[in-house]
Amino acid sequence: MGNSDKYLTFALGKGRLASKTLALFEEIGITCEEMKDKDSRKLIFTNEELKFRFFLAKGPDVPTYVEYGAADIGVVGKDTIMEEDRRNYEVLDLKFGKCRMCVCGPAEAGELLKHHEMIRVATKYPHIAKDYFYNRKLQTVDIIKLNGSIELAPIVGLSDVIVDIVETGSTLRENGLVVLEEICDLSARMIVNQVSMRMESERINKLIKDLKEKL
Ligand code: PRP
Repeated sequence: MGNSDKYLTFALGKGRLASKTLALFEEIGITCEEMKDKDSRKLIFTNEELKFRFFLAKGPDVPTYVEYGAADIGVVGKDTIMEEDRRNYEVLDLKFGKCRMCVCGPAEAGELLKHHEMIRVATKYPHIAKDYFYNRKLQTVDIIKLNGSIELAPIVGLSDVIVDIVETGSTLRENGLVVLEEICDLSARMIVNQVSMRMESERINKLIKDLKEKL
């Protein structure tokens, strides 16, 4: 029942990711002039011609909006997708926002990772850290959830290591920390609600096809 009168709703993670996504969408002719007004306090923007709606949300909330069908499509980092672990389809790697999820710390902490020691791990990503240490490394660790500036934790003695995103590596370098282990590569991904994928398959597949040609 592909219904062209229905709006296709997009949830975009606020910030750099959203600007890059909109720039990419422009390349395939999907524009949203309303959204470019930086002073606007509006939360939701429409393109009446294409029947597309866009809204900005906090990154970690994007997979939630998509799972419940409040958005048909979401664009968010792979880190957030893994951490939130929602039932959505991940359909496309948008190839921007590239970085890595790593275990980092002072170089000496490398030893602690070799012998299955009970160590403290600070992170904004407790689910990813737990999966890595418990299921992949079979190492029991104490995971401490923080909300930002994770690099502080080993410096002030809150934890032995951290699990965090490394992009250029300069935050680590400037704070005397190094990458000890790599967990996985990250980048922006497009996710789709499982029901929307069936009901709006024509429009969504066309969008995926058009985007792929630009990547
Ligand atoms: C992210 C990440 C690292 C830093 C990595 O933090 O958590 O701290 O960027 O980038 P780099 O390798 O290029 O230095 P963000 O700036 O998003 O803020 P946060 O520390 O508050 O999470």
